[in-house]
Amino acid sequence: MSLINSSKEILLIAESCKIVAEVLNEIEGMIRPGVSTMELSLKADEVIRKNGGMAAFKGYTIPGLAPYPAAICASVNSCIVHGIPSKDEILLDGDIVGIDVGVRKNGYYGDGAKTFGVGTISKEAQALLDVTKEALARGIKQATEGARIGDVSYAIGEYITGEGYYVADNLTGHGIGKNLHQEPSIPNHGRKGTGLRLKNGIALAIEPMVNIGTNRVREKGWEFFVADKSLSAHFEHTIVVTKNGPQILTQ
Ligand code: MF3
Ligand code: CO
Repeated sequence: MSLINSSKEILLIAESCKIVAEVLNEIEGMIRPGVSTMELSLKADEVIRKNGGMAAFKGYTIPGLAPYPAAICASVNSCIVHGIPSKDEILLDGDIVGIDVGVRKNGYYGDGAKTFGVGTISKEAQALLDVTKEALARGIKQATEGARIGDVSYAIGEYITGEGYYVADNLTGHGIGKNLHQEPSIPNHGRKGTGLRLKNGIALAIEPMVNIGTNRVREKGWEFFVADKSLSAHFEHTIVVTKNGPQILTQ
């Protein structure tokens, strides 16, 4: 399968990504103490459908687990990613919540995530959000024609560890297009000058996942947690490599 998308295909990926961005905006407006993660997921599903898309995560399967049950992932505090929304999970003042949204429309996917603070958050939590967002920006900046995946990974990982934080083990970004997840895998740390060489038309979902206390991860079904229960944040954009540099599609 070719990883290079034609300009027509890029427009279709961009259409799905635009819906992702709209959903994240809508959800941002709903984030407050007292809201349940299920309410956020139901709203996401509604916005995606209204725009002619499908929630890409719902029904997603990986071996050994029941199909993913919801439209979004909502990962609270020490949950790194893939938190399953629940009507019993009520956001509290001071929480942070990572919202991850995937959309499929016309056979093409978009994927994006942001971590939001609920009410007033601690300085430590805000600093974690800032570092994770900046790690994503630094990774994206490397995604130019002729660069390598390792350049993206290195930029992300060096920045995170340099700031005194930890890259969550074994969780990566990915190629995207006709599939939600496809080659290449994009680790959040790595070596410059290694890995796939980027070409114009390759679409990537770059997604640093950053922990305060340890890189170690504990898996519980779909959900990934930081092993020491410290906070974790996640930001993700779908981008496409173009002759004018990386173009962010999920904003
Ligand atoms: N953005 C997430 C990822 O790339 C989406 C997970 S798919 C789900 O891993 F089904 F687990 F939700
Ligand atoms: Co992703």
